[in-house]
Amino acid sequence: MDRNHILAIDQGTTSTRSVIFDSAGRRVATAQTEFEQHYPDQGWVEHDPETIWRDALTTAREALLKSGVGVASIAAIGITNQRETTLVWDRTTGAPIHRAIVWQDRRTADRCLQLKAEGVEAEVRARTGLLVDPYFSATKLGWILDHVPGARARAERGELAFGTIDSFLLWRLTKGAVHATDVTNASRTSLFNIHSGEWDAELCRLFGIPMALLPAVHDNAHIYGRTDPEWFGLPIPIAGMAGDQQAALFGQCCFAPGTAKSTYGTGCFLLLNTGEKAVASEHRMLTTPAYRINGRTAYALEGSIFVAGAAIKWLRDGIGVITHARQTNDMATRVSDSHGVYMVPAFVGLGAPHWDPEARGAIFGLTLSATQAHLARAALEAVAYQTYDLVAAMVQDGGVRPAMLRVDGGMAANDWLCRFLADILDVAVERPDDLETTARGAAFHAGLAVGLWSGVDELSAIWSRQACFEPAMEAGHRTTLLAGWHDALRRTLG
Ligand code: G3P
Repeated sequence: MDRNHILAIDQGTTSTRSVIFDSAGRRVATAQTEFEQHYPDQGWVEHDPETIWRDALTTAREALLKSGVGVASIAAIGITNQRETTLVWDRTTGAPIHRAIVWQDRRTADRCLQLKAEGVEAEVRARTGLLVDPYFSATKLGWILDHVPGARARAERGELAFGTIDSFLLWRLTKGAVHATDVTNASRTSLFNIHSGEWDAELCRLFGIPMALLPAVHDNAHIYGRTDPEWFGLPIPIAGMAGDQQAALFGQCCFAPGTAKSTYGTGCFLLLNTGEKAVASEHRMLTTPAYRINGRTAYALEGSIFVAGAAIKWLRDGIGVITHARQTNDMATRVSDSHGVYMVPAFVGLGAPHWDPEARGAIFGLTLSATQAHLARAALEAVAYQTYDLVAAMVQDGGVRPAMLRVDGGMAANDWLCRFLADILDVAVERPDDLETTARGAAFHAGLAVGLWSGVDELSAIWSRQACFEPAMEAGHRTTLLAGWHDALRRTLG
């Protein structure tokens, strides 16, 4: 049988899914499972690595079964994952020495303040494109080494391995034969120099991380190793790996400088391809490798909004304004405007471009005639306004203004939101046929590495658009709405 399918494993923050794609890029089967979040203390978030491994394997097998294509027709596996989440395991037994510390975890906030007080942020930014923030892996890794008895000494002796989730799954799939990661995941650790494309000894010294812990770093499209036959009956090449937001950019075929995608899940991550130029942001955007293929790196500017879909979830679960997320589409359509209501969804602080962990959510402009529909509309509008602020910051940073924005993630199914987004950004918003762009990106990398696809032109040819939303709002109206949003934002930030 021809090896003409790709299995993509997408290990996200709240769920793990496996997807099979055929050579035309069509999704043939999907299996997904949600898993438990652990909150051992305020602001702490952990995942059980064994659950992650079990779910990855189970969903992969289930997707294979559902697809009916048979293991022998899988040309390669691609892995994509929640980024920054930090794991350390024993190189001999493969057993993790601590639960994974998740990207959302804030336990190292004080350590980051200390580092900033030491004046290292400018150097970290210059080398990594990141800020000093608990979001990234280095301080989480340092915390594990300092809190698990004996870990630091064992790390120095080379007995332990560090990895983000991609590395851990790769290690398990190859039964410990391969300890590696890809350039996009490495770039989120604060230990990787995005210009030289290597681990940075000075950064490791600064964060107190022994280099013996670190995995090898490869291109995104690369044959990392082969699965042990125990898992699927046959060895399958693992040929693509990428952090989930970079994978989504790739899955959306944003290959040209100036193309951008925005993924609307719990939060929102907007990445703008800046080509071979690593644009240093002056507006607190992140500079990050988008992908590296055949040794050539394309960079992106990234803006992260912590709350997008989470605000809709709050309308449903927190205050009972809706019973299902999709109701917001009709509610927003039913009213002619938000009636002057603005919601600033700073439920967990504000991400880019503000990076204010202390900010909290606020609603402004309430009058006695405000209704639930106005509130729902204000929540959706806030997602678009925040996206506008990211794009504006990127444009000021000298990144090109995107000619269009490709959207994906659960919220992208909301037509009203897409239309409003186009109006507020004043750019066309494109929605693909398949919103599973993260898994698709990992599949594309894997398929390129094994020659299932010849190059990005072929990938672009199989990307298909389901809808395009053209901007139609009159400029004056846009300016008025944005002025109201910025006023609400100012009052929230104080
Ligand atoms: O940087 C965190 C991001 O990679 C998480 O993505 O989709 O798992 O919430 P997601």
